[in-house]
Amino acid sequence: MAVTVVVIFLLCFFSTGRGNNQAHHEESYSTTPTRGQPWPMPQKYSVTTKTYDIDSNNFQFTASGQTCDILTKAFARYKTIIFGSQDTKLRFYPNRFNRVEEGVTGLNVKVQKPCEEYPYLGMDESYELMVPDSSGQATLSSVSVWGALRGLETFSQLITGTPGSGYKINGTTISDSPRFQHRGLLFDTSRHFLGTDVLKKNLDAMAQSKFNVFHWHIVDDQSFPYVSQAFPQMSQMGAYDQLHLYSPNDVKEIIDYARDRGIRVIPEFDTPGHSQSWGKGITDLLTKCYSKGTPTGTFGPIDPTVDSTFQFLNEFFTEIKNVFPDKYVHLGGDEVSFSCWQSNPNITEFMKQQKFGTNYAKLEEYYMQKLIDIMNGLDKGYLIWQEVIDNGGKVKADTVVEVWKGGWQAEMGKVTGLGYQSVLSTCWYLNYISYGSNWNNYYLCEPYNFNGTEAQKKLVIGGEACMWGEYVDDTNVISRTWPRASVVAERLWSAQSVNDAKAAAPRLEEHRCRMVRRGFQAESINGPGYCTPEY
Ligand SMILES: *[C@@H]1O[C@H](CO)[C@@H](O)[C@H](O)[C@H]1NC(C)=O
Ligand SMILES: *[C@@H]1O[C@H](CO)[C@@H](O)[C@H](O)[C@H]1NC(C)=O
Ligand SMILES: *[C@@H]1O[C@H](CO)[C@@H](O)[C@H](O)[C@H]1NC(C)=O
Repeated sequence: MAVTVVVIFLLCFFSTGRGNNQAHHEESYSTTPTRGQPWPMPQKYSVTTKTYDIDSNNFQFTASGQTCDILTKAFARYKTIIFGSQDTKLRFYPNRFNRVEEGVTGLNVKVQKPCEEYPYLGMDESYELMVPDSSGQATLSSVSVWGALRGLETFSQLITGTPGSGYKINGTTISDSPRFQHRGLLFDTSRHFLGTDVLKKNLDAMAQSKFNVFHWHIVDDQSFPYVSQAFPQMSQMGAYDQLHLYSPNDVKEIIDYARDRGIRVIPEFDTPGHSQSWGKGITDLLTKCYSKGTPTGTFGPIDPTVDSTFQFLNEFFTEIKNVFPDKYVHLGGDEVSFSCWQSNPNITEFMKQQKFGTNYAKLEEYYMQKLIDIMNGLDKGYLIWQEVIDNGGKVKADTVVEVWKGGWQAEMGKVTGLGYQSVLSTCWYLNYISYGSNWNNYYLCEPYNFNGTEAQKKLVIGGEACMWGEYVDDTNVISRTWPRASVVAERLWSAQSVNDAKAAAPRLEEHRCRMVRRGFQAESINGPGYCTPEY
């Protein structure tokens, strides 16, 4: 023990002595949390200083418009979120009094259109909230059930509870809708497996920040946990082991859980690179690497020169189309290493036949084009990483290009200049961590901040926060992701003018405390402070 202390002391001594970029104490924003303010900030939000009691024993959610299982389940869920339950002991402050003359007695939810089966790109998420309405209740109106879900979340955030004096809500009028249609969060379940309980917990956290896309980077080089019904050998051979798997039933549970919260599930099956784990179950899929004319026993990207590759992909993606109801799947296409392709004599021969010269980007493009043709045949939409466009790929008009590399302003200009929709993730890699309060970098990254016409800006449909899985598993993925992902959520939901990090900090602090009260291990991000039990 004593030795450890001395070592730490010396490290501190030397590091403070060597430069001025180390400090024991970091500057941080004011951390006094707000009370009863929403995150992300609604488009129009006005609040009065008149407060109303809420009687937790008699409060009712009622549907006076269209309804369905999504809404009924949401009512039950938000009752527990707001008032807690004796089982979870999350909150549960008994009312001090039962008077209703100054109270809001219920929330009347009016959904105009019949519920849709699954959330989708471009769904209507707008809603209006009035507290109280003329009848002494609160009213939430929306076009679609998805808007009602967003409004219920906002409503839950306006209510504060204080031990001893019960629940209160201020007079409030809100008119709200998202700035961007695609507000995603990427989790990587290949570098480390994440249990379905953690994935569900994360979907709850996403709903609290109004994210609407779970980008499920489900497989990669390291492991293939997805259990394919057509090719069960892929997870039998390619998963870490037979305990770290997503069965068809697990996948369905995640999709259903997400749907109930208005969240789309877009799986990513990344090829032709990042596919080492695929090759274990499907022999002859990957390129054999050579050294001085002999095989090394190692493998490279998928082999684009043989028909069997595309027969397999057709069958595999037919399954994926049927398992995942969303119109879109992510096809990857990033970071393809050419060295193995360069070493293989058959590939060299193929390059000659196709007149590709030594331009292996053309081979990659050849592969992606054939995969895209398969997807077009299946009538499934797709997202791709930016490399596919950088290599000159011709994709369908409704393709979504995900920009992730440095120099994103130029890339967004290029991608939208070609007429493609784009989502930005470059500035929201949450897996890069550093000491101190650095969330304002995520907050200030503005997707429209590139040179382009109005028409080009319209093609920016949103962005994604990414949590790559090298250093996170079930033990820390929630705390490392939250509440930093919420910062991205506000950028993508709220008006462009809501961009003052200092002004946002107290509201973010409340949002984080609210997450903690709801049972998320959301880490501290504003420096010293504490959460009272009141959020
Ligand atoms: C609600 O009203 C009280 C005064 O009754 C005020 O102090 C508080 O700031 C208001 N809350 C919000 C969220 O504006
Ligand atoms: C090259 O192609 C031939 C004929 O299809 C095949 O027998 C051989 O295994 C291939 N070699 C490599 C290195 O893939
Ligand atoms: C936009 O173009 C102007 C003029 O060429 C340039 O000064 C500026 O840096 C560009 N902005 C971005 C974000 O690329």
